[in-house]
Amino acid sequence: MANEASKAADDVRTQIQTVLNGQNQPTVTVLSSLLEIQDVLHYLPNEAIEETAAFSKTTINEVWSVASFYTNFRFTPPGDHTYEICWGPSCHVMGAQQILKRVQDELGIDREGETEDGKVTLKYGTCLGACAQAPVIAIDHHHKGKITTEFAAKMARELMA
Ligand code: FES
Repeated sequence: MANEASKAADDVRTQIQTVLNGQNQPTVTVLSSLLEIQDVLHYLPNEAIEETAAFSKTTINEVWSVASFYTNFRFTPPGDHTYEICWGPSCHVMGAQQILKRVQDELGIDREGETEDGKVTLKYGTCLGACAQAPVIAIDHHHKGKITTEFAAKMARELMA
């Protein structure tokens, strides 16, 4: 079991090193490195901080100060699926709060974040860029507009099944 965990950590480290060494933009920074890693892994494990420090010839503290400054970085793995609910102005007017409450009930959580089984990550969006289609949700980045509360709940149930 310990060997499996160690092998998984080695695999992640190798994957991170590949990402770091594959950057080909003119200016590579700690921030650009972290963004690239999160793009691939969808979060920043401890290995990402350590490898970025080694790659950038800086300290772990320095990398951590950059990573923790930006709210878009996450440090735990996301759920298998992402369920985003827009609560921007247009969607709010069209009932987003009611949809949000119902979806939370279906997912068994009362905040943004992962369901207990790790199947779904619930996110709130301030505008998903499709206001004319309000209310809008996005499941695994696929937008669905003019939705009803029932439809939103059904989608949540399907992801949890
Ligand atoms: S406010 Fe919801 S898509 Fe713009």
